[in-house]
Amino acid sequence: MKQLRSSAFAPASIGNVGVGFDILGLAIDGVGDTVELIANTESRAMTISFSDPAVGFSNDAIPVDAKGNTAGAALLTLQDDLKLPIGFDVRIRKGIPLGSGMGGSAASAVAAVVAAAKILQILPKRLRPAKVAKLSLEQLFGYALEGERLGAGAAHPDNVAPCLYGGLTLSSPLFTEPVKTLPLPKGLCCTLVHPDVRVDTKTARQILRPNVTLQTYVHQSALVAGFVLGCSTRDFELIGESLRDLVIEPQRQHLIPAFENTKRAAYSVHGCLGFSISGSGPSVFALSRSFTAAKGVAKEIQAQFKLAGLDSQAYISRLPAKGAM
Ligand code: HSE
Repeated sequence: MKQLRSSAFAPASIGNVGVGFDILGLAIDGVGDTVELIANTESRAMTISFSDPAVGFSNDAIPVDAKGNTAGAALLTLQDDLKLPIGFDVRIRKGIPLGSGMGGSAASAVAAVVAAAKILQILPKRLRPAKVAKLSLEQLFGYALEGERLGAGAAHPDNVAPCLYGGLTLSSPLFTEPVKTLPLPKGLCCTLVHPDVRVDTKTARQILRPNVTLQTYVHQSALVAGFVLGCSTRDFELIGESLRDLVIEPQRQHLIPAFENTKRAAYSVHGCLGFSISGSGPSVFALSRSFTAAKGVAKEIQAQFKLAGLDSQAYISRLPAKGAM
């Protein structure tokens, strides 16, 4: 039988978006992971390998055992749920550096399940379970989330959601549809800068205090509501006033060298609306009114990292950015 293969690309994303811990996420352009699948029609075995790692980038720390790998864990969940009689040879091309706060574990998991959905469409009927015809974004979201649970030690949805759906997403297990895509004002641009340091998400979650005061709860709720309202009414001032993190940023900023300087430098650029940590860091991001401002912000942030002795990579996106494909 002809080899059945497919591939999918999933973009990097910004978890939390600085204001909505574990519930808001933003897809970005220009960087992501690609997963290629070859269907194994003879057995349910799952093998993982890496292809052409990007220059200067090491995959050493990523497990190749399917159960221990985010893409593998997502595919095993899909295989189990659909009672698939086939397995996959999984080839991952990591574009997102490990421990960068750019949603790398989510991207591998999302690319894997999107590639699987494509292969299921071309499977011969005898191998295709009835449930496959109904495979929805919501199902793929659930499978990819299992991969994320493995990567981060918790199934937080704020990277998987934007990575799969694109744009700015709001997710909560309390909604009947677990992911809502929110409107974004035309012209809004994002700068993401990744300094060459690694932060482990599990550790960055463990350092967080479990409680907030009532006053902080009220203030942060107002900021999330203001941010979402600002995005939907194209109110750049409100977006700028609301993009603030009173809870998580103060507890994690010490993990990022020169954090205060990069923040100050970003805000010094005319048109910069807000700045915070991307996911659990060390990447930082800013939202700006225009592409020109977003480029200026990147230059300022990178100059501060350079002064601290760190190389960095910058990615600028016109929003909304597309999800996995
Ligand atoms: N919401 C997660 C966290 C995102 O901040 O721990 C990790 O990328």
